Amino acid sequence: MELGVNIDHVATLRNARGGVEPDVLDAAIIAQRAGASAITIHLREDRRHIKDSDLDAIKKNIKTNINLEMAATKEMQEIAVKNKPYSCCIVPEKRQEVTTEGGLDVYSQEEYMRKFIEPLHEAGIVVSLFIDPDEKQIFSAHKCKADFIELHTGAFANAFGTEHEKEEFEKLKTAAALAQNLGLKVNAGHGLNYENVHRMHEIDGLIELNIGHSIISRAVFVGLEQAIEEMKDLIS
Ligand code: PXP
Repeated sequence: MELGVNIDHVATLRNARGGVEPDVLDAAIIAQRAGASAITIHLREDRRHIKDSDLDAIKKNIKTNINLEMAATKEMQEIAVKNKPYSCCIVPEKRQEVTTEGGLDVYSQEEYMRKFIEPLHEAGIVVSLFIDPDEKQIFSAHKCKADFIELHTGAFANAFGTEHEKEEFEKLKTAAALAQNLGLKVNAGHGLNYENVHRMHEIDGLIELNIGHSIISRAVFVGLEQAIEEMKDLIS
């Protein structure tokens, strides 16, 4: 399994003071050096962490794949087509949420999503849909011609170490197998940390884990490069 490093919270820290440090591009350079398979950034509608200028700087200076997380809006579609990141991961977005709560509802907007994805594909961008481990959503992601799904591991992470862990884990395992049978490639992420990530080895064929908060938190104590290397050791 590969590790996509989400550096949004380097920007959260920077924006807390409104200045320039810590530098988001420096974080991307360190993640690249530490062997991240992707630098993941979420350009939210409200620009609460990553800003357009971060995307621009990373695009100009980083060779590692850029995975742009974004909502399925016209504005974001235009930004993606213009900047051509390696991949786009389409996520649901609510203004009031602290983080991405729950997966994208592809099922109830299948036609919209199919049309939304087309120009991204035409621009040569790999498209992933961030969905819950739910059969309906997987069939819809396949119909929309997504290349990847990213399974939302938040419910599993919340249940980790409780009586519900098994149930939430089985949902991920079953969902990954179904998606792979349909020809979708499967990533996973959200809420994964140094304690719970080992269980991802039990899910066959996962390609990449996208991890942010836990790595950036650990980086406060041991530095970003070491925090990434430690996570890489756990997942490779
Ligand atoms: N994957 C997606 C699609 C996300 O939206 C996020 C959170 O931004 C993550 C992975 C990373 O989650 P965490 O910060 O909990 O590791």
